[in-house]
Amino acid sequence: MKSLSRLALLKSRKIVGLMSGTSVDAVDACLAEFEGNGMGMKWRILAFETHPFPAELRKAVLEASEASTGRVDQLCALNFILGEFFAEAALKAVRAAGLKPTQIDLVSSHGQTVHHLPEDRVIAGYSSRSTLQLGEPSVIAERLGVPVVADLRVRDVAAGGLGAPLVPYADRVLFQKHDSAVALQNIGGISNVTLLPPGSSGKELLAFDTGPGNMLIDAVVHDTTMGEHLFDPEGSMAASGQVDRALVERLMEDPFVLAAPPKTAGRENFGREFHRTLSTLALFGRVKGNDLVATVTAFTAESIAENYRRYVVPHWRPDEVIVCGGGSQNAFLMRLLSEKLEGIPLVTIEQRGVPSKAKEALSFALLGNESVCGIPGNVPAATGASRPVVLGKFVP
Ligand SMILES: Nc1ncnc2c1ncn2[C@@H]1O[C@H](COP(=O)(O)OP(=O)(O)O)[C@@H](O)[C@H]1O
Ligand SMILES: [Mg+2]
Repeated sequence: MKSLSRLALLKSRKIVGLMSGTSVDAVDACLAEFEGNGMGMKWRILAFETHPFPAELRKAVLEASEASTGRVDQLCALNFILGEFFAEAALKAVRAAGLKPTQIDLVSSHGQTVHHLPEDRVIAGYSSRSTLQLGEPSVIAERLGVPVVADLRVRDVAAGGLGAPLVPYADRVLFQKHDSAVALQNIGGISNVTLLPPGSSGKELLAFDTGPGNMLIDAVVHDTTMGEHLFDPEGSMAASGQVDRALVERLMEDPFVLAAPPKTAGRENFGREFHRTLSTLALFGRVKGNDLVATVTAFTAESIAENYRRYVVPHWRPDEVIVCGGGSQNAFLMRLLSEKLEGIPLVTIEQRGVPSKAKEALSFALLGNESVCGIPGNVPAATGASRPVVLGKFVP
């Protein structure tokens, strides 16, 4: 493990963080330079690129992700094919910074989640929760000639955690303040919040998935436009529709949305099956077209706000909410969320110096920086793990 000890001794490290979330829209690649570790770490972004999924690859990932359509031969092939795709994304970021792969120290890859089972499954008396991310790190290492750390969630699961959320460690390093409470609200396919009380040691931190992010909006837009659009650009379709209150109220009864943290969600919660139920309810209520887009957007905003009302504010009222992820580009969603947050100011992460789509990839680069130095990157208060653990598997 010569290269691991060499990495740990470097004064600064150039690391590409790779992230693809449940939206399966693109692999986000953020190249950043890190100096030091923990709360005293210095960081700066050198380049950020998104590498959009070709429609056929996206379809294959979505099929593989559903229990009813996933096939083991497809999972086997996808693992290596996604490795190639992630390698391309990393190369794009390296080139955008005007660098060569030989000038990079590490790639830290989240992989593509195809399944996440936060509840135990029992086989032959053995029981475990589980999570599966694909995108073979050996392929990335081979294509770039750079060491890779990957599969960052599984050690936390082995230590009794949910394996998610993992961004709270990075959120603390990047955004925690001494004198005010900050909430980070990521709106990807799924929405998740990290609440950082002022000067928190990590123990007082609260982090969990609130429910759907863009996942339902994307699904409804896809239906409404017969596949022509994959998302609602800037929320323009929702803005020209009417919210159906009865349907929003019905959707707000969702047990995941109302459940107390810790909780993590995925396509298992708000994927195909939820979408099917939603379509039936919409048909009965005669809600369609842009009205339906507006309605699911309202549900998305209200499900986030309801989690603040029930769980975040009683823990610690944030002085501001910093929004990131693709959903921050949806003006209609942002307006509704801001109205429902009852006076807590909402800012975009751009206003705090980080491109909204780069934040998750930057977080995984930062976690890789800690892993190669032997520093734990999970926050047990967030994942429920029994102890802090060093995350990831290393490919030299
Ligand atoms: N300009 C935009 N207007 C509205 N929504 C957008 C825009 N850009 C991205 N999005 C939404 O953000 C989603 C991707 O968000 P992202 O943060 O990458 O999620 P994930 O982590 O699940 O991949 C898209 O599927 C889309 O719904
Ligand atoms: Mg994405």
